[in-house]
Amino acid sequence: MIQITGLKKYFYEKKTLFGKTGERVKAVDGVSFSVPQGKTFGLVGESGSGKTTVARLISGILTPDAGSISIGGNVDIVFQDPESSLNPRMRAGDIIGESLRVKGVSRKEITERVRDALREVSIKDPESNGRYPYQFSGGERQRIAIARAIICRPAVIILDEPVSSLDVSIQASVLNLLKDIQQKLGLTYLFISHDLRVIEFMSDTVGVMKDGRLVEVASRDDIYLAPQNAYTRHLLDSIPEI
Ligand SMILES: Nc1ncnc2c1ncn2[C@@H]1O[C@H](COP(=O)(O)OP(=O)(O)OP(=O)(O)O)[C@@H](O)[C@H]1O
Ligand SMILES: [Mg+2]
Repeated sequence: MIQITGLKKYFYEKKTLFGKTGERVKAVDGVSFSVPQGKTFGLVGESGSGKTTVARLISGILTPDAGSISIGGNVDIVFQDPESSLNPRMRAGDIIGESLRVKGVSRKEITERVRDALREVSIKDPESNGRYPYQFSGGERQRIAIARAIICRPAVIILDEPVSSLDVSIQASVLNLLKDIQQKLGLTYLFISHDLRVIEFMSDTVGVMKDGRLVEVASRDDIYLAPQNAYTRHLLDSIPEI
């Protein structure tokens, strides 16, 4: 469903005051992986390793300097922070139905599909489509972002740190919801997190990123039970014991 080959994206820092060209940042430096339909590829790595840049390349927000991206369907994306990804001046129903409105779907159908989407993300109050983002809890806001992502029935959803802004106590319910929706709709996920426990819970295959490269790609069990790469082992060693 997703096939990425030799993906590269370099950024050039702005020229300095003295006219020198700034340094080149190899944000993504030759990344290849594939994800079968209905499966989850977990991308993990420290801050600045290039995870979000991969997400932005695949979703088409950025164009790659090199490499190829092939995806067997539409892609939607859920960002880390629903605070900033949901327009505070729009009602939940309008946020969720926006992409249908742009496509020219009738008002009546939009209303019905928004109601279905809210049900799919387990927001049960039928009046909630009239509320503004600030009138929801953080977990509910992220559910609204998920409803917005699934309403057009994409084949692939990119989830960039979707629970990192949430309280640990509600992370599990959002992760379980994402798994349920994946099963129900046959979705393929690219799931990004810096949290190895979250990645373990969600992923079929895991890619460990460091300085723009994938240092190890393996099945979830191999990564967690028999990591081959020294950096992967270092990350696993630094997981706090619960
Ligand atoms: N638009 C940009 N211009 C210049 N440099 C950028 C730009 N976007 C990202 N970078 C740089 O590319 C590198 C990778 O950034 P990226 O956001 O992909 O990391 P990340 O793995 O998502 O980090 P985090 O876990 O903190 O979200 C960083 O060094 C970052 O500073
Ligand atoms: Mg990021």
